[in-house]
Amino acid sequence: MELFDLIILGGGPAGYNAAERAGNAGLKTLVIEKRALGGVCLNEGCIPSKSLLYCAKAYDYAKNGEHYGVTAKDVAIDQKYVVDRKNKVVKTLVSGIGMKMRKAKVKVVDAEGMIQGKTADGFQVEAGGEVYTGKNLLIAAGSEPVIPPIPGLREGVASGFVMTNREVLDLEQIPAQMTVIGGGVIGLEMASYYCTVGCKVTVIEMLDHIAGPTDREISGILMKNYANKGIDFKLGCKVTAVTDHSVCYEDPDGKAQEVAADKVLCSIGRRAVTTGYGLENLNVVMERGAIVTDEQMRTNIAGLYAAGDVNGKIMLAHTAYREGEVAINTILGIKDRMRYDAIPSVIYTNPEVGAVGITEDDAKAKGLDVEVVKMSLKMSGRYLAENPDGDGILKLIVDKKYRRVLGVHMIGNYASEIIYGAAMMVETEMQVDDLKEIVFPHPTVCEVIREALFDVK
Ligand code: NAI
Repeated sequence: MELFDLIILGGGPAGYNAAERAGNAGLKTLVIEKRALGGVCLNEGCIPSKSLLYCAKAYDYAKNGEHYGVTAKDVAIDQKYVVDRKNKVVKTLVSGIGMKMRKAKVKVVDAEGMIQGKTADGFQVEAGGEVYTGKNLLIAAGSEPVIPPIPGLREGVASGFVMTNREVLDLEQIPAQMTVIGGGVIGLEMASYYCTVGCKVTVIEMLDHIAGPTDREISGILMKNYANKGIDFKLGCKVTAVTDHSVCYEDPDGKAQEVAADKVLCSIGRRAVTTGYGLENLNVVMERGAIVTDEQMRTNIAGLYAAGDVNGKIMLAHTAYREGEVAINTILGIKDRMRYDAIPSVIYTNPEVGAVGITEDDAKAKGLDVEVVKMSLKMSGRYLAENPDGDGILKLIVDKKYRRVLGVHMIGNYASEIIYGAAMMVETEMQVDDLKEIVFPHPTVCEVIREALFDVK
């Protein structure tokens, strides 16, 4: 029985990043992964969707180039090529993770792991017919799509009519009409892709707004943009059934409605994976279907850690990376802790949405004394040069007493790349007057943040 300092169950962003850090720090580390290194993020989430979305952007710009004096005839998108290209990107990245593991001297077992229990030596995990013992065990088993008990939905998944985040990335033919259940991040990114490449998309969302916790004004702008591009948003609607060719729902007036579809995407959230790998043999404390962890990613059991979607805190790959690092530092005896108030989030639509920290509504609900500085992105010369009709905005939420930035929310390209700078402002708790001394490159869209800082009273 081989003994490890650390066994990691799951090779997604939480697992592989933790493994690399652990291996490089000298811990004898084993990663057990049943599908492919990289997890959902690399194989069927963040990366493949961005590959598809970039193709849609290129197609959109070629088709609508007249705004820039560019006309092109017979612009077409080759969906099979798009999917093949995406697969190549994924393959390159997954093999890169394998190389990282080898470099960090991490052993990888390609098999399903099964926790058997804990003895004085550590945690026993069986994988591929071998039993391994780890002084520490990090659970990084990720999450899976929620498929609620709506009549016909599970049958639809079984027949291939209903897709999850996995299948929607592999369609080699663009359907004529697609219905998306859930107007959250996955729903919006995929609706954005399919609408851009010519599919008639309907989004059914049970709330009265899209994009969940996003600033309402910003989610409103995003919705208007995509409504203009042709997405039919059905807000405040409850899906009641899925047939083999349609989705039935109740509209806000309680009337039964039906929308025909060639394909349906079910994107109504994800839940932590906590069964199927022997977790029940450890008596770990769980809450709302996820493993409970503290700021060091420790569970109630000594030596057992959980990082990434499996702890149900914030289901984002970059949160998972950081949680994995915090777990490893804790194992190594390095003081570290996880903070959740400065985690940026991005919706990779076109225009992109980037956000970090508290929203204006959150601040009001918490009774915080804040100043909200709102600015059009047209304050940026570069934005104006590239988006003459753009309606992008930025909102800066500043604590009046301590003059610290508590939140930054924006819609407009390149929000996805800009938002990390804003996250640094929130994370470091620097004061507005110190932030004003930072020189921003000109001309860039991020300069709008600087302008907004100067507008703080
Ligand atoms: P989500 O939680 O973002 O959105 C689900 C939406 O479905 C919500 O707006 C909810 O109100 C709606 N909904 C729930 N039940 C419904 C029903 N029966 N009928 C109609 N609407 C219903 O979940 P999503 O989009 O599935 O994403 C899952 C996870 O993946 C999220 O945690 C997300 O943050 C993450 N993700 C992040 C991305 C990014 O950072 N760019 C990209 C893709 C996913």
